[in-house]
This record gives sequence, C-alpha cells and structure tokens, in this order.
Amino acid sequence: MFKIAVLVSGGGTNLQAVIDSIENGSLKDVSIVKVISNKEGAYALERAQKHGIEAKCISPGSYADRTEYFDAMIEEIRASGADLIVLAGFLVVLSSRFVEAFKGKIINIHPSLIPAFCGDGYYGLKVHEQALKRGVKVTGATVHFVDEGTDTGPIIIQKAVYIENGDTPEILQKRVMEQAEWKILPEAIQAIAEGRVHTEDGRAIMEDKQ
Ligand code: GAR
Repeated sequence: MFKIAVLVSGGGTNLQAVIDSIENGSLKDVSIVKVISNKEGAYALERAQKHGIEAKCISPGSYADRTEYFDAMIEEIRASGADLIVLAGFLVVLSSRFVEAFKGKIINIHPSLIPAFCGDGYYGLKVHEQALKRGVKVTGATVHFVDEGTDTGPIIIQKAVYIENGDTPEILQKRVMEQAEWKILPEAIQAIAEGRVHTEDGRAIMEDKQ
C-alpha cells in the first residue's frame, strides 16, 4: 500500500476528490495515513474524520518560529510513514528544511497552467482573478513536484479549462476544480504510486498506464 499524507488549509475539496477516488476504486493501493491542517477548524479536517482518516491541526502560531513549526511537521509526517506528501490547498510556504527532508516526495496542486499565474501571492481565488483580469481564454490546473521555489518544481500533469464570457473568479474556480483539479490530482498520485513518474533534467515525465 502506497501511503500519502495530505496537507490542507481550507475547504478540502481536493482532499475529498482523493478520498472519493480511493473509495470508488479508481485510485488503487493508496491510503491516506494523515491529514494535517495549519488552520484550526478547517472543513478539510472534518471531511477526513468523516472517512475515518487521522486528522489534526498543527498551527504555526503554536510554535516559537518557522523552524520549530516545520520540525514538528517533519516529525509528524515521518511518524506517519507517508511515502508522498500531497499539498491540497496548503497555503503555508514550506521551509527549505522541510523540502529537503522530503526531497522529490512532495507534490502540489495549483489552479492555473504553470508558468502562468503562479508564484508568490498567487493562491486560491487570486489566481482566477488575475486570469480574468488578463483576459486569457484558456486556464487550467497543474500538479507539480515541490522544490525550494514557489510553483517552480517539475510539472507532472496539466489540464486545460476554457474561460467563458461572464465568468467571475468564483465561477471559474469551480469549473477549474471540477474539470481539472479533482481529476489530475488523483491521476498524479496513482501514477507516482505505480512508479510511472520520474524526473530528468529538471522535468518530470509521467508514463501512460499500460
Ligand atoms: C484549490 O483550488 C487549489 O488548487 C488552490 O487552493 C484551492 C484549495 O481548495 N491551491 C493554491 O492556490 C496553491 N497555490 P480546496 O481546499 O477545496 O482543495
């Protein structure tokens, strides 16, 4: 069984998509061993508990500094035995120590086609606001490995979504989630669990399922 830990900050619809994929059998031989939120009361924690998954809040505010906070996170995740860490709407910038501790074992879902609308300050609804402001006609979502930069790691999978006249950031966010995020996140996890993803010259290559 391939074990994943999922880090969240909010609503947890991407976490839900992973839970549903495991429960309906489309995501095979994968189990969620831990869900961690940086925010007390995040609905994602409730979603996990409803499905019998161990879930807890580890808040940066309870630690003296970022080093202590991430040391606690590293310890918790190591103890869970997770093979992969999935950032599913986790909005805390990782420390380089954390990234180093789990090198090549952290993935993130981002709600745009990287390298568009990503980097510092681009998260959640803000990404869609900027895409609409710029007037692009196609956006989408990306799953990528996490490195020391913000949204700079090797891209594993992307899916495009059309923008429609009259879209608001909220409408677009929902369409990007439904048509792209909730599909490509479980797909990327499955591919990694099956050993079908490797990196070469800073790029990720995902082999198709045989
Ligand atoms: C998702 O749209 C995810 O792509 C985005 O936050 C949302 C979380 O929703 N992540 C980022 O913007 C990371 N830079 P969820 O809690 O319902 O999964």
